[in-house]
Amino acid sequence: MIAQSTSLTPLPPPSVFNLPAPKHIAIIMDGNGRWAKQRGLPRVTGHENGAQALRSVTETCCEIGVGCLTVYAFSTENWKRPAAEVSALFGLLEHFLAAELPTLLANNIRLRAIGRLQELPPTALQALERTIERTSTNTGMNLVLAINYSGRAELVDAVRLVCEEVANGHLRPEDFTQEDLQKHLYTKDWPDPDLLIRTSGEMRLSNFLLWQLSYTELYVTPKCWPDFGREDLFEAVRDFHRRQRRFGGV
Ligand code: IPE
Ligand code: IPE
Ligand code: MG
Repeated sequence: MIAQSTSLTPLPPPSVFNLPAPKHIAIIMDGNGRWAKQRGLPRVTGHENGAQALRSVTETCCEIGVGCLTVYAFSTENWKRPAAEVSALFGLLEHFLAAELPTLLANNIRLRAIGRLQELPPTALQALERTIERTSTNTGMNLVLAINYSGRAELVDAVRLVCEEVANGHLRPEDFTQEDLQKHLYTKDWPDPDLLIRTSGEMRLSNFLLWQLSYTELYVTPKCWPDFGREDLFEAVRDFHRRQRRFGGV
């Protein structure tokens, strides 16, 4: 539990604190299946251990002052997996939400979700909405779960809303700007991620935050997600601090 371990864990190495933590960290939590396979365990055991890793990384991000942590939990493409795995993943989500609520409240963490949430299994959606509501007045870190998320679908949904504005005469196509699109993204409440972490070594975005990652620093580690812990997060942040972000300037 985040609240308990926060008081028990030693202070992180000072090098992490010499510079401010990234305001927004996004994570593609990949490699649960491989982690399990390497141990001769079922894939779902990998997902269960992945949920533990999420708990630990959430705690660490909260502790070092990250404002927003967005994690890719289920993509629109993940429905292609065997029905038993999909159902286990949503069962795990419900379990995670119920188990973590006290911790979220104790740590002032606000839970949010992005994606086509209406297509979630009804009980998972209810659990999600309940936890979002229960944490809605928290003012600390935002923990954003990307569930049934697709970067392309997000852009399509945003463009649909822009089209409505044009159709009802509130926006002229020639006045349309990036901000007009951005204000309809699922992520409109948060700045773009400063740092993207992907575990298990794959060098791809897999349809995650396609608009928002334009100038994000990328960090890929070969470690599978269930093995990614506190020290690994520190290492990613240290690596981030060594980057020179130029945003196209000099
Ligand atoms: C990430 O781990 C979790 C989800 C995509 C839900 P994977 O299940 O993709 O693990 P690998 O990539 O097969 O090892
Ligand atoms: C990306 O991982 C989605 C999540 C981590 C939820 P995948 O395992 O689905 O991505 P690919 O198939 O390797 O691109
Ligand atoms: Mg994967």
